[in-house]
Amino acid sequence: MGHVKLHIPGPVEVSEKTFRAFCSPMIGHRGQGFKDLYAKIQPQLQSLLYTNQLVYLSTSSAWGVMEGAIRNLVFKRVLCCMCGAFSDKWLDVAQRCGKQAEALKVEWGSPILADMIDAKLASGQFDALTLIHNETSTGVMSPLAQIAELKKKYPEVSFIVDAVSSLSATKIEFDRLGIDVLLAGTQKAFALPPGLTVFTCSAAALEKAAKSKDRGYYFDFVEFQKNAQDNMTPSTPSIGHIYALASKLDDIFGEGLEARYLRHTTLAQLTQQWAERHGFTLFPEKGYESVTLTCINNGSRSKGRAVDVAKLQKLVKDKGFLIDGGYGKIKGTTFRISNMGDETEATMSQLHAALDEAMKQL
Ligand SMILES: Cc1ncc(COP(=O)(O)O)c(C=O)c1O
Repeated sequence: MGHVKLHIPGPVEVSEKTFRAFCSPMIGHRGQGFKDLYAKIQPQLQSLLYTNQLVYLSTSSAWGVMEGAIRNLVFKRVLCCMCGAFSDKWLDVAQRCGKQAEALKVEWGSPILADMIDAKLASGQFDALTLIHNETSTGVMSPLAQIAELKKKYPEVSFIVDAVSSLSATKIEFDRLGIDVLLAGTQKAFALPPGLTVFTCSAAALEKAAKSKDRGYYFDFVEFQKNAQDNMTPSTPSIGHIYALASKLDDIFGEGLEARYLRHTTLAQLTQQWAERHGFTLFPEKGYESVTLTCINNGSRSKGRAVDVAKLQKLVKDKGFLIDGGYGKIKGTTFRISNMGDETEATMSQLHAALDEAMKQL
């Protein structure tokens, strides 16, 4: 069997163009060629994150930078906003880093809302919070702009935001929102091979990090800043990833940001409609559906239809497409379909046609 096209919520399908860029001839990471490469993409990254801050490149997966954010920015106590598998894990990560951490937990499928955070931060116990903008396990997008408004009320609290599966698919204006750390693993909406995380920090976060005695070595944000000022990374990066990112950024700005955001929203809606046509309901609370993936109920949380998800996956795989059979504790009672990256109405309709056929064969 040939290649099975990825419609799981990351890693996603990587284009031939991106792969060609990934395989560019190697250069040294302290040479002018690398500095020129980073200098070329820096303004594009800044436009994409809507920031005047430098954007850093970490050739680790997202968790590296997530753990780094905890080590650089938590001095007192961190509030971990938990609404799914990835955000839930952040509490464990903070505790394993030896930090005082507290959970703000909602039922999976629900979003994190600003007033919940407000009620917790009012205690004055916290100097940081972690939030996942787009919880990939549940397909829920929490209202980041409303949450970020709280930063005005709690300027001393570092707002650490994971946009792993939303950055580049929807507008996240880092400077205007006033958040402190924004990070994304590029195997999701950027459609790069896994292994690269882009992130940025506010000036306040950098000042705070400089005072931390627990920054460690590999994810020391002060080192990222120092090196980025000279168009370098603290250690040897995966240079192939950075070539691939440069190619992808040209694609992104060629398409136009607004067009890219609209495309993702439209494609997610097409999958939502596919689910409804087949008698399924959606897992996320209405109004908080992700624009990059659709998490579909399989008879849970609703009176919606239930099917043999493993069989559906197998039938669709035989037609050349990989969908996800649900993550963590909702494996099997949900399934997920990604539309992130380079997908179009045409490619999504091919997937939906394969799913239609598979549904008949169940
Ligand atoms: C929202 C979110 N955060 C964090 C991660 C962890 O990313 P990684 O496995 O690349 O470290 C994922 C992975 O799927 C994710 O979806």
